[in-house]
Amino acid sequence: MKVLVVNGPNLQKLGSREPEIYGAFTLSDIEQRLSLIARENNITIDFFQSDSEGEIVSRIGKDDFDYLIINPAAYTHTSVAIRDSIAAARTKAIEVHISNVYAREDFRKKSLTAPVCVGQIAGFGILSYVLALEYIIKNEDR
Ligand code: DQA
Repeated sequence: MKVLVVNGPNLQKLGSREPEIYGAFTLSDIEQRLSLIARENNITIDFFQSDSEGEIVSRIGKDDFDYLIINPAAYTHTSVAIRDSIAAARTKAIEVHISNVYAREDFRKKSLTAPVCVGQIAGFGILSYVLALEYIIKNEDR
């Protein structure tokens, strides 16, 4: 089984970016944590980060994975293009957020991408990603 993890704009700055909201861990910490779990469970895992909406759409459009874990970051709230690329892919997607977007500004409460995902996990820091991978491992109707 192949899982693709996509991280959107500004998430390469994790660790130094607003640590009071996003924590002290880095993108590389997330990738290492998920890689370890993937290895233990015989899953091939790939990572992709981009600040560019078009690059994210093109990567999802390759459709070369079984599951997508995506943190679209700010594009969550704005991108019809990323939403459509998830809807067009044959894969199941899980949307993740590090922060609890529902406890923040009103504009973060609307997700254009969550309706085309299996579900959304928000507010658990690095564990939002870990829980998404746990779902993929434990879900029985693959
Ligand atoms: C985020 C929440 C978004 O509203 C924000 O634009 C981000 C990160 C999160 O993981 O909490 O960049 O997706």
